[in-house]
Amino acid sequence: MSGFACKDCEDSGWVDTPDGSAVVACHCRAQLVAGRRSRSLSGVIPRRYQGTSFDRPPVSSMPAAQVELVRTYVRDLDKRLEEGRGLWFFGGVGTGKTTLAMLVSQAAIEARRSVAIYSLPRLLAEIRGTFEDDGEGSYVDLLDRLAEIDLLQIDDLGAEKTSAWVLEQLYSIINSRYEEQRSVIVTTNLERDALSEQIGERTVSRLEEMCELCPLFGTDQRRFEAVDMRDKDQPPAPDLRLA
Ligand SMILES: Nc1ncnc2c1ncn2[C@@H]1O[C@H](COP(=O)(O)OP(=O)(O)OP(=O)(O)O)[C@@H](O)[C@H]1O
Ligand SMILES: [Mg+2]
Repeated sequence: MSGFACKDCEDSGWVDTPDGSAVVACHCRAQLVAGRRSRSLSGVIPRRYQGTSFDRPPVSSMPAAQVELVRTYVRDLDKRLEEGRGLWFFGGVGTGKTTLAMLVSQAAIEARRSVAIYSLPRLLAEIRGTFEDDGEGSYVDLLDRLAEIDLLQIDDLGAEKTSAWVLEQLYSIINSRYEEQRSVIVTTNLERDALSEQIGERTVSRLEEMCELCPLFGTDQRRFEAVDMRDKDQPPAPDLRLA
């Protein structure tokens, strides 16, 4: 194994012409540049969700229709990303929305597509941060990078109320992906109207057209289960009440 993704240019992006008289861009250069740009975004599956698989719990014990919808998306990943189609996971706390969303992002990363994964509060903080740090340059750069990656996952949509200005930036990101037909995956606890109230009607409307809805129901899977820990072989505890 050479250790290089492209053995023609050894990941430099440039190759010599056959007669050796010039250097030209390698066939992989566009992908290489896109990969470098997207690496500065958050494209890492958080530890809790790493190695998630259709064959193992918790996914194997999730509702079959919803899992099938995700499985189909992953099977047709190239086509879905080409068409800019996404998924919208909606449901109560602890019902598996992020788990399924991460499964899709993980499949896209494995297929060597560029992926960025954010919770909405983190994404908004990053947008604000570009203004606080070093001005407009990095801000425009962040929006450009978020617009051009293959898959953008935004978790916890509507999790915080934020300023009109920040929501306008979120709209910008979603709208440019909408126009360029690039996929978005979102998770939210909020019903459509409540979400629209939190992040704006125009943003929600575009997401709705871009995504297929995957509703998740049921109880919070993080909750403690009450287990009877009393030892069945022990005699019942003495009645200590005074006569
Ligand atoms: N159907 C299920 N069966 C078993 N465990 C599950 C199921 N759904 C989720 N879990 C587990 O419950 C926990 C919460 O899952 P996850 O983070 O995907 O929920 P969520 O819907 O994104 O919650 P939140 O709305 O709080 O973000 C995880 O540990 C996950 O493995
Ligand atoms: Mg979640």
